[in-house]
Amino acid sequence: MAGTEHLFKVLVIGDLGVGKTSLIKRYVHQLFSQNYRATIGVDFALKVLHWDSSILIRLQLWDIAGQERFGNMTRIYYKEAVGAIIVFDISRRSTFDAVLKWKSDMDKNVKLPDGKPIPAVLLANKCDQQWDGVENNKAMMDHYCRDNGFVAWFQTSAKVSDDKSPFGTL
Ligand code: GTP
Ligand code: MG
Repeated sequence: MAGTEHLFKVLVIGDLGVGKTSLIKRYVHQLFSQNYRATIGVDFALKVLHWDSSILIRLQLWDIAGQERFGNMTRIYYKEAVGAIIVFDISRRSTFDAVLKWKSDMDKNVKLPDGKPIPAVLLANKCDQQWDGVENNKAMMDHYCRDNGFVAWFQTSAKVSDDKSPFGTL
């Protein structure tokens, strides 16, 4: 039986330096670097998932520079996306405050073909660091996600691989 292939465009957005590029590098290449080089515009990465013996999924990850929130290119980058990952840095409260700005910018500018909002997951990154100003409280974060239309949230670290985390085995 011939297999099926799917190509999904997924946006990765969030403020400057929250770790979007690092998470993608970890996910796609199992690598981490301490050095920070701000993304300019947008970068692309492809993650191929062998979903099962007959389904192949290509995730086209659009790694959008944090500094683009103040630009007017995002509308163009968001086009035809079918999923989004919004990232904040648990050690910098201001990046959490920016999450809803990113989400509303996205929801204003792109929708699924059926008119529904793009499904979005929230990542609380740098969980190897101390939380700042955002309470590390599961019930509160669950509530925040329900209120603001996120499918789910996860704690992540691009630096430390933790087998207990949902991202540890990527
Ligand atoms: P822009 O491209 O400017 O939007 O930033 P970005 O979101 O792509 O951030 P990037 O991945 O470049 O990471 C910024 C800095 O944070 C780098 O120095 C990374 O090494 C560091 N970093 C990223 N993820 C983690 C993490 O999970 N833990 C720790 N401790 N540092 C991290
Ligand atoms: Mg980047």
